[in-house]
Amino acid sequence: MKTAIVTGASSGIGLEAAKKLISMNYRVYGLARSFSKTKWENKAFIKLVCDVADIKQLKFCVRQILEEEPSIDLLLNNAGVGYFGPHEEIKTEHIEEMVKTNLLAPLILTRLLLRELKKSQGYIINIASITALKASVFGGAYAATKAGLRHFGVSLFDEVRKSGVKVITINPDIVQTPFYDHLNFKEHDDPESYITPESIADAVETIVRQRDGTILSEITIRPQKHLIEKKKQKKP
Ligand SMILES: NC(=O)c1ccc[n+]([C@@H]2O[C@H](COP(=O)([O-])OP(=O)(O)OC[C@H]3O[C@@H](n4cnc5c(N)ncnc54)[C@H](OP(=O)(O)O)[C@@H]3O)[C@@H](O)[C@H]2O)c1
Repeated sequence: MKTAIVTGASSGIGLEAAKKLISMNYRVYGLARSFSKTKWENKAFIKLVCDVADIKQLKFCVRQILEEEPSIDLLLNNAGVGYFGPHEEIKTEHIEEMVKTNLLAPLILTRLLLRELKKSQGYIINIASITALKASVFGGAYAATKAGLRHFGVSLFDEVRKSGVKVITINPDIVQTPFYDHLNFKEHDDPESYITPESIADAVETIVRQRDGTILSEITIRPQKHLIEKKKQKKP
């Protein structure tokens, strides 16, 4: 059995990717701040409560996993948050949360696990975003974290390819997940205007099933149509 670490495994893309990896005979350590909303259970799914934006907690969590596991085969840097709006209106603590969760945590986690991943010739899969590739009006800070994560992955790919580690960046466009629950917009009802988290999990499977020596180093996944839905403002 192989071992994977998936951040942000309590919902959305992370949870679907965890299910997929377990179906492929991985044991998955899933990290999130809370699993109260996660009904799915499996004996190969180990839920670890960990705020990845808190680097002390993150280090503690990694130490715990490494004490249990002789080898780590896959790291999915997926945990992320987004806050959008005119830049001057985004709370400074939300900017800090995005930078720490979306960018700092993956850099630290990769640093802490890279020696193990070199030993196993494993995978590092980063969930960036379409916003890493293009201008994002009202989402500049979020896009900056995702562009940073993407660039880290692209750079690390070249740094570690000789050692057998596979670094992959996935750039999803709009995915139907709880990511939008606290935002004033969401995916449109038209099924051709969003991607499902299952499709991202399928991409993870495709990445891992490539023959040795072949790496899908970057995948961009987009819906057919470009539509979003503004949520009705609640009356004060
Ligand atoms: N949905 C989209 O349209 C879309 C598009 C492109 C990229 N993405 C990226 O995809 C990734 C997954 O998002 P999603 O769409 O699946 O949304 P989601 O359902 O809201 O999932 C986000 C996950 O990240 C976890 N998380 C957030 N902050 C955390 C922290 N400080 N420590 C540990 N875990 C934390 C959440 O769990 P807790 O809240 O319990 O901690 C949750 O499990 C994110 O990086 C997001 O930026 C999403």
